[in-house]
Amino acid sequence: MCGIVGYTGDKECADILVNGLRKLEYRGYDSAGIALFEGDRIRTVKAKGKINEGLAPRLAQQPHFSASAGIGHTRWATHGEPSDINSHPIGNGRVSIVHNGIIENYRKIKEFLTEHGYGFESETDTEAVAKLLDYNYNGDPLDAIIKTVADLEGAYALGIIFREHKNMIYAVRKESPLIVGQGDGEMFIGSDVTAIIEHTDKYYLMEPGEIAEISKDGATFYDIHRNIIEKELQTADWDVSAAEKGGFAHFMLKEIHEQPDALKKTIHPRIKDGMPDFSECGLTDEKLNGYRHIYIIGCGSAMHAGIVGKYIIESLARTPVIVDMASEFRYRNPLLSKDDLVVVISQSGETADTLEALKLSNKIGADTLAIVNVVGSSIAREAKMVMYTLAGPEISVCSTKAYMVQTAFMYLLAFRVAYARGEISEQETKQLIAELNEIPDKVQKCIDSQEQYQKVAARLMSADSLLYIGRGLDYALSMEGSLKLKEISYIHSESYAAGELKHGTISLIEEGMPVIAVATQHDLYKKTVSNVKEVKSRGAMVVFICGEDMEPAENDIDCPVYLPSARDMLMPLVAVVPLQLIAYYTAVLKNCDVDHPRNLAKSVTVE
Ligand code: F6R
Repeated sequence: MCGIVGYTGDKECADILVNGLRKLEYRGYDSAGIALFEGDRIRTVKAKGKINEGLAPRLAQQPHFSASAGIGHTRWATHGEPSDINSHPIGNGRVSIVHNGIIENYRKIKEFLTEHGYGFESETDTEAVAKLLDYNYNGDPLDAIIKTVADLEGAYALGIIFREHKNMIYAVRKESPLIVGQGDGEMFIGSDVTAIIEHTDKYYLMEPGEIAEISKDGATFYDIHRNIIEKELQTADWDVSAAEKGGFAHFMLKEIHEQPDALKKTIHPRIKDGMPDFSECGLTDEKLNGYRHIYIIGCGSAMHAGIVGKYIIESLARTPVIVDMASEFRYRNPLLSKDDLVVVISQSGETADTLEALKLSNKIGADTLAIVNVVGSSIAREAKMVMYTLAGPEISVCSTKAYMVQTAFMYLLAFRVAYARGEISEQETKQLIAELNEIPDKVQKCIDSQEQYQKVAARLMSADSLLYIGRGLDYALSMEGSLKLKEISYIHSESYAAGELKHGTISLIEEGMPVIAVATQHDLYKKTVSNVKEVKSRGAMVVFICGEDMEPAENDIDCPVYLPSARDMLMPLVAVVPLQLIAYYTAVLKNCDVDHPRNLAKSVTVE
């Protein structure tokens, strides 16, 4: 949700900023801009649209200029439509800012400033902050920032430059993430490590409430009372290639291919002596045995991973599991108690609704476990216990490898809860773990049979609307398949419990309408086949996804997709791959911008 970058050093800064913004474009891409120190003034160049369509050509039209410090921004609009004027940086010639997050009381601030003679050009909340900084500025940037921050309500990160303090960058964090990168005689700011990793892997993670004053020689950190804070320099544990496409046409395709490896990285460290092990976060068997309910909370794909979790935890561990979307949970006065465990799932660790649901759970006194991909993120720090999925950075807006490892975590949790509660023996647990360890190879096999999915995509690309159907775990999985397809190919789709079709939705079926049936569960197989017959006899074009050991009813199927077999319970980890790749190839055939679907952004830091 908006990307911030900043540079101060000896190099030409415009290119560094634009390259950094390209890396952050997944966070928002409806406009982009940079502001640079040029001589005695601040030069701002910004434009509506993606960097290659707006900012880059506009920069190329500028007469030559030289600058060695500045700030940049790529936007996902919240206040005000995507337009040149609403793009960041925003300021007035004396101060210029880039902003991620939302200023909740911006109207009040605008009113106040209007009374004091300020005019406003944009529809943004950001302009209120820029002009309040100007109002509070008396020659001392830190003083202006401290006074301004005291009046701001909301969650935000800011990059700020003052014309009179040449080549200095100021940064503020309240919730929305921000890092300060340290190079050799050059310093950076960024919304995350991807923005700076090609220059340095050393960075400081700003904490909420901190202000940074940055010159090319280093950074000083302050709290809001101007006390200096000593911070530890961190080292990013992945290299430049993790943030590059590496020969793949899209990040999404690259990340799908990374899934076998991501699975191994996430699962292996959590297995000790053949058993799932949660000791790294302090989740003991005694605790697991004592919880009354388990709540699993997330948004989008993360929540879908939780739905798979519900099915397997309930069936193996006989423990009630409630899955909730974070945006509903936080406002529905949940029946949560101190005796419950809340598991929040998030790739970014910054999703606003998930973070708030977690805070609420902590307040109520429940135990909280965060399953998060981004190290040091807000959710990771807020939870009482945290375990990291080790998928590496996920750049494509459409989640694939993050969902995969989140789901794998659900299995580890289900096995351990079931063991802790005495529902399965040590031997059974070890057997399940052994079979889970075989999944990465099966995922690889699925990835290797792409022709099947390309054929399906060719049949789907001209559809206006379609259905995914399944029962049990196949239904849980089809929700993810449906989300992938609509998110990147813009084809409307719904996932439906196959047995529920007859209660209304079957009326949608007409000649040629695609129905994607997922049938990987042996005990439900015949039931799903009956549902397939029902839609086929009403004209549906049926895509049938099943294990290679199953025999689909050939006459009812237009496009079969066969999967390597695994224990039924583990099949969602295998069967999600065709769903991802069918969505991917459909979007490619439709010429959609796969990594940057319209209206979306990675990391939803506003509610
Ligand atoms: C879908 C997708 C989203 C995210 C959701 C939660 O492909 O990526 O549905 O899963 O926005 O994001 P995180 O996991 O960062 O909390």
